[in-house]
Amino acid sequence: MVRSCQTMPHKDLLRCLDKHRANAWLQPVLAASQAAFNSIAPWLHPERELILDSGCGTGHSTVGLAERYPEGLVLGIDQSQARLSKSPPVPNNARLIRARAEDVWRLLLERGLSASQHYLLYPNPWPKPRHLMRRWHAHPAFPSLIQLGGQLELRTNWKPYAEEFQIALEYYSRKCGLEVIKNDTQPTTLFERKYIASGHTLYRLISLLQANQPGDRYDS
Ligand SMILES: C[S@@+](CC[C@H](N)C(=O)[O-])C[C@H]1O[C@@H](n2cnc3c(N)ncnc32)[C@H](O)[C@@H]1O
Repeated sequence: MVRSCQTMPHKDLLRCLDKHRANAWLQPVLAASQAAFNSIAPWLHPERELILDSGCGTGHSTVGLAERYPEGLVLGIDQSQARLSKSPPVPNNARLIRARAEDVWRLLLERGLSASQHYLLYPNPWPKPRHLMRRWHAHPAFPSLIQLGGQLELRTNWKPYAEEFQIALEYYSRKCGLEVIKNDTQPTTLFERKYIASGHTLYRLISLLQANQPGDRYDS
């Protein structure tokens, strides 16, 4: 179980969403992210479905997705070389890169690319209230995540994270469904396996993201 003094959605979430919708995120892309992206750019193909596994850890889910969607291209992104070095063999229709996911999202958008599916499997929950802005939905990169489109699937073992993510999607007028994952589910990632073995309740949030909806940005 995630330990936190926060048991409900954060009181500052809406303020944070207002701020990020009103202000473009200008932080430069890290050189390492740019280099990693450049290395896979020739492999990307606008006519093949792109499936993102952001924060893929050891890449087990990336490989699983590549086997499940042989026609698609599956890109696993993680900032930890230590985790990526423990990946199973990666099939031809998948790549694992060491990069900041939020940088890769912006680089894909700059190229006019979008996602057909986007997985955020057990992102770090950042359960301390003061770390709200490190959670994906409260991060300045959240508008980019929305613009990438596709079917988004978030999984987490911390209910307030799922609830906040749901509020953030609804703030952007994206419909979503939140459910508890059945505990006899075959684990898709190493963290999921660990959580199931420990009897954690796991949550899944699914949303079909459509890019460029009215109200995605304030024009002022
Ligand atoms: C709790 S682990 C989950 C890993 C994997 N999805 C799983 O379920 O086994 C979170 C992962 O997100 C990665 N991560 C955190 N922030 C990231 C970022 N900004 N860009 C890319 N990866 C990130 C961490 O390195 C870590 O591997």
